[in-house]
Amino acid sequence: MAVNLPDLKINIGSLRLKNPVMTASGTFGYGEEFGTLVNLHRLGAIIVKGISLLPRQGNPPPRIAETACGMLNAIGLENVGLERFLSDKLPFLQGLETPLIVNILGDTVDDYQQLAARLDEEEKVAALEVNISCPNVKQGGVAFGTDPDMAHAVTKGVRQHFSRTVIVKLSPNVTDINVIARAVEEAGADAVSLINTVLGMAIDIESCQPKLANVFGGLSGPAIKPIGLRMVWQVAESVSLPIIGIGGIATPEDAIEFLLAGACAVQVGTTNFINPKASEEIIQGIEEYLNKKNMVSIQELIGRARQA
Ligand SMILES: Cc1cc2nc3c(=O)[nH]c(=O)nc-3n(C[C@H](O)[C@H](O)[C@H](O)COP(=O)(O)O)c2cc1C
Repeated sequence: MAVNLPDLKINIGSLRLKNPVMTASGTFGYGEEFGTLVNLHRLGAIIVKGISLLPRQGNPPPRIAETACGMLNAIGLENVGLERFLSDKLPFLQGLETPLIVNILGDTVDDYQQLAARLDEEEKVAALEVNISCPNVKQGGVAFGTDPDMAHAVTKGVRQHFSRTVIVKLSPNVTDINVIARAVEEAGADAVSLINTVLGMAIDIESCQPKLANVFGGLSGPAIKPIGLRMVWQVAESVSLPIIGIGGIATPEDAIEFLLAGACAVQVGTTNFINPKASEEIIQGIEEYLNKKNMVSIQELIGRARQA
């Protein structure tokens, strides 16, 4: 007897996903690196490492440190830059059916606009994910994502130059994430993704020095899951945009928690370094959970924990 598979499809603006599980930026290279480890066609979407207009070398080493239930990184947004992305990385990604989401970053609003305009010409780029956890060079290096006016300006600039789905990725390193979420909604974002890494540090007690050359780094992995979940819950209360949940997702159960909190999709990040197949296992696990609960669609799960 044929088993009816639950419907995992999700739409986010013009973006059509066969299931809600994506790979998080910076933890899945440019896709190709994972090609022999994961069935890339099975994924909901692939989000590539953040791209800037020009190549970046990132911060000096050491720039990674393990912590309890997670890791700190201060990679410093190293990437190949827009032109090499288009010439060297995009052709492989074009051969996949899986939608491609390009994560972008810049020093100024104009950088983001230029990236959006050029990537709009590439049909394969189904969506942009705008990383606003970057220093605004023109305004003294304060991160775009910590100020509602700057977050609004970047989002508006990208919106004006990109015709498909615009996702804005929110930083948890703010006093009130709802203020930023409302600002990007007002500026025309189609969705928000959250959370980026949580600012932290570690000290080596032998050398008596910080473990990262940059001193501070971004904490990721299971340690931050409760923070991500709490913020998804809060943002779901303050905006009506679709939310993509991120933060320490390692198992189907983790992903299901984010969906119950109000996320319509999830991203798997640091877990890719430990278990590259995790995203596939999470898709399978969500399917099995829906079957067990006699739910026919993922829609029945989204925000269910919020219903009294
Ligand atoms: C090594 C590393 C590099 C990352 N690079 C980026 C990046 O380029 N752009 C971005 O928006 N987020 C980047 N992130 C953040 C992740 O996409 C994700 O938001 C964060 O790690 C939390 O999810 P996780 O706990 O599942 O890893 C990076 C994270 C790590 C660990």
